[in-house]
Amino acid sequence: MSAVSVSGLTAAYDGAPVLDDVSFELGAGQWHAVIGPNGSGKTTLLTIVAGSLSPVRGEVKLFGGDPAACRRRSQVAYMPQHENLEWDFPVSVWDTVMTGRYGHMRRDPLFRRFLPARLSASRHHAICQQALEEVKMDHLARRPIGQLSGGQKKRVLLARMLAQEAPLVLLDEPLVGLDKDSRRLILDVLRRQRQQGQTIVMVTHDLVNTLKYADQVMLLNRSLIAIGPPAQMLQDEMLTRTAAANWLDRAPALEQEDA
Ligand SMILES: Nc1ncnc2c1ncn2[C@@H]1O[C@H](COP(=O)(O)OP(=O)(O)OP(=O)(O)O)[C@@H](O)[C@H]1O
Ligand SMILES: [Mg+2]
Repeated sequence: MSAVSVSGLTAAYDGAPVLDDVSFELGAGQWHAVIGPNGSGKTTLLTIVAGSLSPVRGEVKLFGGDPAACRRRSQVAYMPQHENLEWDFPVSVWDTVMTGRYGHMRRDPLFRRFLPARLSASRHHAICQQALEEVKMDHLARRPIGQLSGGQKKRVLLARMLAQEAPLVLLDEPLVGLDKDSRRLILDVLRRQRQQGQTIVMVTHDLVNTLKYADQVMLLNRSLIAIGPPAQMLQDEMLTRTAAANWLDRAPALEQEDA
């Protein structure tokens, strides 16, 4: 069964094409790595799968069904590239992680909403607490997120993702700029999640850990270059082909088609 099924996906910003006719299937319960040079459309692909951006053309299915319905049921969690976020917002670590529970809270039985907050939200509180403990950030729960280091911010985003309890998680460069301990912690958490049957889709530049952890690798440079087992995909020849893919040669054809 596929967790993510994408066919004929084309994406653009203000008419400028970014992804061209991308099709692939990602098996459920596996760890998938997405690798490509800067500007190759990796973040764009994740934001489309996460439902934050609409494609120009093509279809996305999650677990064989409608992505919007999956998102409403909190079946997909998204950990954004942290440098793309606004961190000056006056919100605490705890509140950030709690936003991961909002989708579940909406589906709480109605009677719960009439209970005192301490009872109605107790399950959500316990899950947030556990997520923060798992990333070793529970001692900083009341700290405003703007005051955290880069590695701590990544841990908070990971805790939020854990709190969502989604069977599909999308992570955009979760290991970038981290010290060795934070990197290890994040990889350990993801490995446990993978063992529990979660599907992981991770954009990364870290070839060593991809070789170690991923079940499948997708090479992307605006179009899909190749998809397959890590040992095969991470050979020099494949990486060179990915870096050299001159997609711009094909851009005029896309514009003509649009006209
Ligand atoms: N919001 C936006 N508006 C206009 N163009 C954008 C926007 N976001 C991305 N782009 C452009 O789309 C292309 C693909 O960007 P994207 O962020 O998806 O690449 P990426 O592979 O994630 O790159 P990186 O490795 O640097 O994170 C780039 O040329 C980028 O400049
Ligand atoms: Mg990116």
